Amino acid sequence: MTPTIVAIDGPAGSGKSTVTRILAERLGWQLLDTGSVYRALTWYCQQQGIDLTDAEAVLAATPAFLQVWELSLTPGERWVRVDGIDVTDAIRATEISNQVSHVAGIMPVRAAINQRFREILHGATAAGIVTEGRDMTTVVVPDATVRILLTADESVRIQRRQAERGNDNPEAVARSVALRDAKDGRVTNFTEAAPGVDVIDSTHMDLAAVTDAVLEIIAERT
Ligand code: C5P
Repeated sequence: MTPTIVAIDGPAGSGKSTVTRILAERLGWQLLDTGSVYRALTWYCQQQGIDLTDAEAVLAATPAFLQVWELSLTPGERWVRVDGIDVTDAIRATEISNQVSHVAGIMPVRAAINQRFREILHGATAAGIVTEGRDMTTVVVPDATVRILLTADESVRIQRRQAERGNDNPEAVARSVALRDAKDGRVTNFTEAAPGVDVIDSTHMDLAAVTDAVLEIIAERT
């Protein structure tokens, strides 16, 4: 049976990771967090001493990375491994967040990774799979059954990220979110919805309301 694919794009702090995890758990579906792959590739290049601004070198390392990269698709079991090493927490470090856009900005690297994403999504072993990223609805799986752009005003997204980080350095978090969106926005368009993509603006919505809104769209489309 062909799995139902639900693709959600949005900027940093829009709430897509949390919402997709809740949805996948509730529906008993699989989950593909695509940002974690770019983060893991960044970690891998750093370990190999590769200059992240050297696009040729990052591209040359990508096939070897994809051979040793593993990701849990089970929403209740969150882990990412690279060559057997658990990098689940390491790839969330601010240092990685601040560097990941270099890697994600290399178009041939994206092409190789996107191909792997499509294989995973179309080969899902559950009835459905929920995925989140920046260009899932537009480039990776424009054929997904449900395509959603999840947005929120920048100030609200920054507040959410600060709360996640325990407010340890609010200004640094604010700078990091704004800078990353600006860099990512040069490569992927996650501010305007492509035709056929539903928009949910979560600025004034809590998690439960966003989850319900997505479930409603899934019910309409399936
Ligand atoms: O969603 P998350 O913050 O984990 O994404 C980390 C980074 O991965 C983003 O800042 C972006 O550079 C990159 N990314 C991307 N395309 C995706 C998902 C993430 O370029 N589909």
